[in-house]
Amino acid sequence: MIPYVRLAYASTATANPAHIRNDLLQILDSATGYNSNHQLTGVLLYGNGYFFQCIEGQKHQVDDLYQHLLKDSRHQDITLLSYESREQLRFDQWGLRYVHFEAPVEHFFSQNHLAVFNPYLLNTTLIHPFLDTLYNDARNHPGQPNQALMALEASQSGYVMSVWDMGMVAAWILLALLPLYLIVTLVPGTSGFFMF
Ligand SMILES: Cc1cc2nc3c(=O)[nH]c(=O)nc-3n(C[C@H](O)[C@H](O)[C@H](O)COP(=O)(O)O)c2cc1C
Repeated sequence: MIPYVRLAYASTATANPAHIRNDLLQILDSATGYNSNHQLTGVLLYGNGYFFQCIEGQKHQVDDLYQHLLKDSRHQDITLLSYESREQLRFDQWGLRYVHFEAPVEHFFSQNHLAVFNPYLLNTTLIHPFLDTLYNDARNHPGQPNQALMALEASQSGYVMSVWDMGMVAAWILLALLPLYLIVTLVPGTSGFFMF
């Protein structure tokens, strides 16, 4: 009897990229304990607003976790990419290894003629070499998940504005223009001054 199953899925994060770090910290915090208590192993990747996760373990444990994942509002459009029986666990050193989206992942996608990282494009042919890429990347970067999250923060130093922030900027611009508008409409003779 083949003892394990390995599941991989793609999903879309619901949090704004500027606020994803909190979600990731929470997920990793709860997942690390849960996964090791249930002999689950795997890898989680976040990039370009997408999640890619691979979970391995005994069938009932993997299926149970996937049912929880399907109900989690921190992501949506959850798409099962592969589900297969395995003789061995590939990511057996990690309860849940977080891999930051970086050069090897980008390289994998460009090598396979896929413009940008989008896990929904991983078909059955690509999924195994992609897991190899993640495995090698995780092995080459031994360290705690938080270190990978710090890398995420650094990569986001190009600040991404939320809708709220954009609204606030627009409000300040309008407020700054209000005195000008009042002068032009209330003080006779000033409207010509602003015309070229
Ligand atoms: C992208 C993503 C990956 C997750 N991975 C795991 C995981 O590997 N292990 C885990 O216990 N929870 C993981 N979670 C959290 C679970 O979805 C869920 O919150 C947790 O199992 C608690 O379930 P409950 O709130 O139904 O009790 C993940 C959540 C997201 C959004």
